[in-house]
Amino acid sequence: MLEKIKDISIEAEKILQERSLNHEDFRLKFLSRKGQLNDLFDEFKQVSGEIKRQVGQNLNLLKNRLDEIHKELQAGNSQSGSTAQGNKEDLTLPVIPNAVGTLHPLTLVRKKIVEVFARMGFNTEEGPEIESDWYNFSALNFAENHPAREMQDTFFVEKAAVQKDDLLLRTHTSNVQIRLMEYKKPPIRSIMVGRVYRNEAISARAHCQFHQVEGLFVDKNVSFRDLKDTLFHFAKEMFGKNTKIRLRPSYFPFTEPSAEIDVSCFICKGEGCNICKHTGWVEIAGSGMVDPNVLKNCDIDPEQYTGFAFGMGIERITMLKYGINDLRLFFENDIRFLKQFKGI
Ligand code: DAH
Repeated sequence: MLEKIKDISIEAEKILQERSLNHEDFRLKFLSRKGQLNDLFDEFKQVSGEIKRQVGQNLNLLKNRLDEIHKELQAGNSQSGSTAQGNKEDLTLPVIPNAVGTLHPLTLVRKKIVEVFARMGFNTEEGPEIESDWYNFSALNFAENHPAREMQDTFFVEKAAVQKDDLLLRTHTSNVQIRLMEYKKPPIRSIMVGRVYRNEAISARAHCQFHQVEGLFVDKNVSFRDLKDTLFHFAKEMFGKNTKIRLRPSYFPFTEPSAEIDVSCFICKGEGCNICKHTGWVEIAGSGMVDPNVLKNCDIDPEQYTGFAFGMGIERITMLKYGINDLRLFFENDIRFLKQFKGI
């Protein structure tokens, strides 16, 4: 019997070394009810005399060792199991990209505008959307009875007894010009970006909320020529290097002289199309030299300083740039519309 125990021990060690059986087959062969160890224990019952003690000890040693080997095979199997038995995860495959969103077209255009002006030395400023009459109108030289103050244009938040203190939703970003000139003295070279509100019926061409970019440059010797050069450069950066600009005389209470800025139609290159209504030109901004009264309202001496200002609608520029014909699309968050804008 001692011989048998030795043989089984040698065989089991060999199996472990060569991994020629998996742990389950090993268990069946040696440790199960019908396995070799049980046979030995049965045989052991027959053993008697002096040798019984020695066989019993060896048999116990063998059992312990077989248990150990079984455990080792089990551990080895679970380690190698994932590769040898076919790993379901192929770690060499490229990752599946997450479905990432796209930037809103207004955000894309806003970023581009900010970037172009930043390169010309304009920093970006912000101001409040709920504003007082003073910053939105009076300080900007709107006459007391100017029609833009009427209810049909402005959303009033709180109508004060004294008109000057009315609270309202700003109708343009020009309010930030005043706030800026109040706390900062020239040189000032800033753009102001933000949402504005008007009491308009919502249609393809008008909305009660939209976005504007305001520009302000105040320093010594700022001239109309600087205004023209700045906007010409902007137009080329935004719409392509062959873009031309045209200035048309206009009127704004806060600028004098004032001009409307048109760019040559970048769709038809001036030939005439629906976008430019067959004129070859599209309007993109209002502008002008800051009215001396506005400078005075902000304690800036108009004898010493001059400045130019401009304002443009981000929706309008985006519509022109992408040929979008309905303003409402910007605010409906329809994924089929939004996912078309991947970059600029
Ligand atoms: N605030 C004007 C508007 O909402 C746009 C504008 C025109 C802004 C001329 C300006 C400017 O700064 O100089 O229609």
